[in-house]
Amino acid sequence: MAVREILLMGDARLLRCAQPVTAFDTDALHLLVSDMLDTMLAANGAGLAAPQIGVNLQLVIFGTDARNPRYPDAPPVPRTVLLNPVIVPLPPDNGSTMPIEVQDWEGCLSVPGLRAVVPRFECIRYTGFDQYGDPIDRTVEGFHARVVQHECDHLVGKLYPMRVRDFSRFGFTRVLFPELHEATED
Ligand code: NI
Repeated sequence: MAVREILLMGDARLLRCAQPVTAFDTDALHLLVSDMLDTMLAANGAGLAAPQIGVNLQLVIFGTDARNPRYPDAPPVPRTVLLNPVIVPLPPDNGSTMPIEVQDWEGCLSVPGLRAVVPRFECIRYTGFDQYGDPIDRTVEGFHARVVQHECDHLVGKLYPMRVRDFSRFGFTRVLFPELHEATED
């Protein structure tokens, strides 16, 4: 168990496409997951992708307690270990026939000190496996869907600033959310 160094934007390793995990329930995989959890919790993150610690595998973890100081208003998301994920956008549960995008604030442990408004699909289905090889299949919306899309973007070399459309809503956390900044290092 160890807190690992989180790579920062500008590091070319964050721009790679990650490889699928081929061996489940191995000691090496459990150690990696354990290190990622330690690293995410030490940074008060809502999620972490393996490429952020320099491991080029399709593995993300995410989840928030009732009160995460980086996202104090966000609803809790169950702590999840997700390997080889596939995301399918879905129409919202309101009679729409097409998936819709919603805009909300995001940060990233690889982009410390900054926040931006980023478009994401409101509703998604995501599938994959946990570290034991057991299948995961969930349909989610809102903040949960946003976190999954953000983390899975790391597996295709995308950081949230690459998704920003309105750069008038991209800035420093301590300026945009001074009360939030006091509660976090970021
Ligand atoms: Ni991130």
